[in-house]
Amino acid sequence: MLAGKKVLMGLTGSIAAYKAALVVRELKLLGAQVKVVMTEHGQHFITPLTMEILSQNRVITGLFPAGERREVEHVSLAQWPDRILICPATANIIGKIAHGIADDILSTIVIARGKDVILAPAMNARMYLNPVVQKNIAYLKDLGYGFIEPEVGELACGDEAVGRLADPRKIIDYLCWDLLATTKLAGKKILVTAGPTQEPLDPVRFFTNRSSGKMGFALAREASFRGDEVTLIAGRNNLPIPVGVNYRGVTTTAEMAAAVKKEFKKSDIVLMAAAVADFRPGVVAGQKIKKETSPTTLKFVRTEDILAHLGEVKNEKQILVGFAVETENEVGNAKKKLEGKNLDLIVVNNPLVEGAGFGEETNIVKLIDRSGKVEEYSKMSKQEVAKVIFEKLEKLPDRD
Ligand SMILES: Cc1cc2nc3c(=O)[nH]c(=O)nc-3n(C[C@H](O)[C@H](O)[C@H](O)COP(=O)(O)O)c2cc1C
Repeated sequence: MLAGKKVLMGLTGSIAAYKAALVVRELKLLGAQVKVVMTEHGQHFITPLTMEILSQNRVITGLFPAGERREVEHVSLAQWPDRILICPATANIIGKIAHGIADDILSTIVIARGKDVILAPAMNARMYLNPVVQKNIAYLKDLGYGFIEPEVGELACGDEAVGRLADPRKIIDYLCWDLLATTKLAGKKILVTAGPTQEPLDPVRFFTNRSSGKMGFALAREASFRGDEVTLIAGRNNLPIPVGVNYRGVTTTAEMAAAVKKEFKKSDIVLMAAAVADFRPGVVAGQKIKKETSPTTLKFVRTEDILAHLGEVKNEKQILVGFAVETENEVGNAKKKLEGKNLDLIVVNNPLVEGAGFGEETNIVKLIDRSGKVEEYSKMSKQEVAKVIFEKLEKLPDRD
């Protein structure tokens, strides 16, 4: 996903430095080129050797390296990356950048670049909430520096407070969003649904399915890269919310239907990737059903078919994308669904095929459009599948 992208990672003296190793590893897995610059204090927390092995590049640790000098390193390094990511960012480096101080290799590179810098602060809550630190952050935000806000959680000092480095997945997400933003679908409002719904039987039991929500979240992430207003409505999941996405969590099909109907009218493109229950228990017990009185049969009733409803009410400008999980006659069944529900595109996969199942990181899909054209793809990550779908959507004739 980040092939061809260059990231210069600045690592400063915080206990959260070990998490930077995970970020570098993930950046490399996504195909980015990474160079790491460590402050002197940063090297107390994690070794340059670790970062060198993970980044597969020499780690830069000083302004005045020993040996032959062929270039002014801080200037060439400042020009090299697409983004400078400072992770973790101490109160010290934030203060230095805000005040134009360039007294070591990292601060000098940042001052020499002056833009395309993202900081992920990590520090004790008292430091983070110090008005001077807050003022520095606000000033840098005004100048266009990106910030990945720290989280509330247990800090190294034992306090439960704000200041913990953002989850490495969120840091990666922010960076991807920042690096991959395009304006191809600019101005379009995109609605995505994801995950399973849960249908209660009593206050402690429910019916659900194996959907993890990963495909829908990947679609929302991809949509956010394209500079659009994106809303994600999702059933229960444990996935990080993609950066730049309006998120709405729901539980039942009825809640999903209500939330989707509210958003639908103002949406230009709608991707219905949620695995919505087709039926639910007819009676929901008000109290937990006791073992002694447990029923031997259950009556189910049909839930609302949200996709069919949207197909009925959509106008000719709206694009509606459905997803089909078929274990047999994939293309035939998917085409029926495409026509029956008035869809513009359907994405079908067979969960019985290895690499296309629920909860997996990969999927194997076929895209079928209104002309009946079938495009088959081999095994890809769900994020790559999301990209392929959006590339297809961009090629659909403009309806404005
Ligand atoms: C054990 C320990 C943990 C620290 N953790 C942090 C931290 O999480 N955030 C922070 O801003 N400073 C932290 N500091 C203080 C910084 O290391 C200190 O301000 C240092 O001057 C930062 O230098 P640098 O920004 O050049 O790396 C910590 C210090 C120690 C001894």
